[in-house]
Amino acid sequence: MAHKHIQIFDTTLRDGEQVPGCQLNTDEKIEIALALEKLGVDIMEVGFPISSPGDFDSVSKIASIITESTVCALSRAVEKDIDAAAEAVKNARMPRIHTGIGTSDSHVYSKLRTTRENVLERGVAAVKYAKRFVEDVEFYAEDAGRTDNEYLAKVLEVVIAAGATVVNIPDTTGYCLPWQYGAKIKYIKEHVRGIDKVHISTHCHNDLGLATANSIAGVEHGATQVECTINGIGERAGNASLEEVVMILRQHQDLNFDTRIQSRQLKSMSELVSTRMRMPVQSNKAIVGSNAFSHSSGIHQDGVIKSRETYEIIDPLDVGVHESSIVLTARSGRAALKFRAAKLGFDVEREQMEPYYEAFLKLADEKKVVQDQDLLSLFSS
Ligand code: KIV
Ligand code: ZN
Repeated sequence: MAHKHIQIFDTTLRDGEQVPGCQLNTDEKIEIALALEKLGVDIMEVGFPISSPGDFDSVSKIASIITESTVCALSRAVEKDIDAAAEAVKNARMPRIHTGIGTSDSHVYSKLRTTRENVLERGVAAVKYAKRFVEDVEFYAEDAGRTDNEYLAKVLEVVIAAGATVVNIPDTTGYCLPWQYGAKIKYIKEHVRGIDKVHISTHCHNDLGLATANSIAGVEHGATQVECTINGIGERAGNASLEEVVMILRQHQDLNFDTRIQSRQLKSMSELVSTRMRMPVQSNKAIVGSNAFSHSSGIHQDGVIKSRETYEIIDPLDVGVHESSIVLTARSGRAALKFRAAKLGFDVEREQMEPYYEAFLKLADEKKVVQDQDLLSLFSS
């Protein structure tokens, strides 16, 4: 059976760029947008044009350069926001306006200080207004994760009737558990008239470390678009990480989903975003962290040297990492030492290894990580 295509909606340049201290200038945003296009994202959300003249300018420049991905701009359900978004994406080959409003009781009563009926009317009006400018209009029900399902279904039904082409179900506060988020998407699939004509999108935040798991649960229950960012950056604890979502779908072929992402570019894409945003990637980050393919304990090293698959479920080349690394520490065994020595041209037989191994352990206790230079001295002495 052919794999079902899941659209990747990258929001590194909008939700990701909201991270304090990570703001980019227009040239940096254009550089990242071009790299995202090459990576194969279906949609890129590149800013919130009403927020500042600089953001408007970069959205409009990116819109006139990108040809292979849909270019999307964010707005609130407010006419002046939609005007700015429409103006900024007007030269895009495939423009999209993303508009919406909070639907949870907390947003309706505490933030917007209004009624559910009024929110529903404002949502419909915003979609109708955005449709005057573009065909492709995505509606977000902010804080959908904590919105009562029955009311959420009502809102979605009317915005679809008003012309929304995508309905976004954000877990804005990262509150849902995967089974709850999956059940929400299933409920929407089963109770919203017109839902089969539109895409359902996930947009999961990582406050409880569940953004990726929730996105996958959404896909398993009928979502066909995933909103995510490179390195999982975004408000507070961030968004679902693009590289994790893509590689989960790729590694679990049994799920029968795939994306258009050129996975071999994931590592360099991660480095580009990290450098330009001056935001280091944690070393144990899945897929793109510096330790994601490095092995340091003796038992693991012995296994990987015999057969990579013993401790690696992804071929590092598939994500653009040249090779797995065998890091030498005081937890490493003889097999790892022999392997690294051989790479430097020292072929030491097992029987002759003992004195070298003892000297190595002393050095490793002192230095924590033993480098090639140390090995050269050790084996030349
Ligand atoms: O987290 C959220 O709800 C958002 C919306 C604006 C889509 O970022
Ligand atoms: Zn968000």
